[in-house]
Amino acid sequence: MTDGTIEAAWKAIEGEGADTLTALFETEPDRLSRLVVEEAGIRFDFAKTHLSRGLLDKFVALAEATGFAKARDALFAGEVVNTSEGRAAEHPAERGSGAPDSVARARSLHQRMRALIDAIEAEAMGPIAHVLHIGIGGSALGPHLLIDALGRDADRYDVEVVSNVDGAALEAAFRRFDPQATLVAVASKTFTTTETMLNARSALAWLEEGGVEDPFGRVVALTAAPDKAIEWGVDETRILPFGESVGGRYSLWSSIGFPAALALGWDGFESLLEGAAAMDRHFRLAPPTRNAPLLAAFVDRLYANVKGCETRGLFAYDERLRLLPSYLQQLEMESNGKSVTRDGQPVGRATAPITWGGVGTDAQHAVFQLLHQGTHLVPVEFIASIEAGDTLDEAHHRQLLVNCFAQGAALMAGRANAEDPARAYPGNRPSTTLLLDRVDPATLGALIAFYEHRTFANAALLGINPFDQFGVELGKEIARSLDSGGTDAFDSSTKALLARISG
Ligand code: F6P
Repeated sequence: MTDGTIEAAWKAIEGEGADTLTALFETEPDRLSRLVVEEAGIRFDFAKTHLSRGLLDKFVALAEATGFAKARDALFAGEVVNTSEGRAAEHPAERGSGAPDSVARARSLHQRMRALIDAIEAEAMGPIAHVLHIGIGGSALGPHLLIDALGRDADRYDVEVVSNVDGAALEAAFRRFDPQATLVAVASKTFTTTETMLNARSALAWLEEGGVEDPFGRVVALTAAPDKAIEWGVDETRILPFGESVGGRYSLWSSIGFPAALALGWDGFESLLEGAAAMDRHFRLAPPTRNAPLLAAFVDRLYANVKGCETRGLFAYDERLRLLPSYLQQLEMESNGKSVTRDGQPVGRATAPITWGGVGTDAQHAVFQLLHQGTHLVPVEFIASIEAGDTLDEAHHRQLLVNCFAQGAALMAGRANAEDPARAYPGNRPSTTLLLDRVDPATLGALIAFYEHRTFANAALLGINPFDQFGVELGKEIARSLDSGGTDAFDSSTKALLARISG
């Protein structure tokens, strides 16, 4: 389709969305049957959004005009979808969805990972009780989310994920762990990231100081650059490689998920992959009007591009999912926080909103005031599980869920108060609810794959590349330059700050 057709599709959308949510529930009595999708153990409820029947048709037209289906097929076929870096995005192949040769490659790398886990369990590296996972960004956020959500009760390895270069983070882990019983996993796609390599060096020193005779013998490398890991000192048998075409923030399915596989056990890790594969199938096969990731992307575009919302709030009503907002911040903002199209032209409209959030019910007593009565319109996403994550009196879980549902209802309905405006609620504030049957590896795999595909669908509608992240490079370059004392090119404020710490 031509740029003109795409712009016409956007124009049609931008003129819509005026009806209130309560009016939509009256004029569209079939909203629940149309806007609720149940898939892979998750109920996706988009009914409390301004996605009217008319708007949905227009978004489907936009998807057609932008070539969404072709882009999706290219992703799964392993074609070069990351055009600026000239490579495919093969995370779906990690869970068995994709071109047969890519799937076969991913499987054999998973076998290698499984063999190493078997060896560790058989105490080939000595008795291991603790795993110190060192990585940052995509090499930490995904494994950390999985371990925090699913590995809490597992009577297996005690895993700590350390990402920050602030030595306080690593020292806290050192205090908790016994070097004699610790395995260090160094996770870095490039094996060059400054923070990770510095933390890894300090962890080696800690092992040595703790009396470990062969510190490198306790190190496992998870990387797409095995040569660099060998050069750094890791033995080839303890390197778990993954493909260059698996993006960092999409890499938890690969060997980057190693600490999660250790914490959950191999069966748990496979269930995670199977859950994600179920969501892949849904994304590939469901028609646009019943396709959960695509419907979510329509909702995202509606609020960012029609209603002018600059943020989206995400609240997990489940302690196990407390790291979901920070995981999604990288997935969504690093992927789609862009200003130019795949062809290098200005996008011309808002791209990724700012993703923020927290856990319910805590957030209700902190930030929800603004959501109900503030001047910013924030589309909210609620995530909850039908099955409880605790064994206490069932009143706990019931309170959690009724509070979650009450917030969505209150945001939508509002309440007038003619006498006292300070006590009035405007209502007409949208929300989406994702209700999981339970928080288990399969459902979490499906949930994360849903978010990946939603991010991809947003990018396709905007015509941007979600798989590069050049925006993070300039700061890294300047930090390197400042570290080596080269301040000449910098402003006086930056120079003075550096002078202040240089004594
Ligand atoms: O700086 C951003 C980034 O490149 C992320 O995209 C990536 O997940 C992270 O750094 C870590 O990179 P690596 O896995 O190569 O250490």
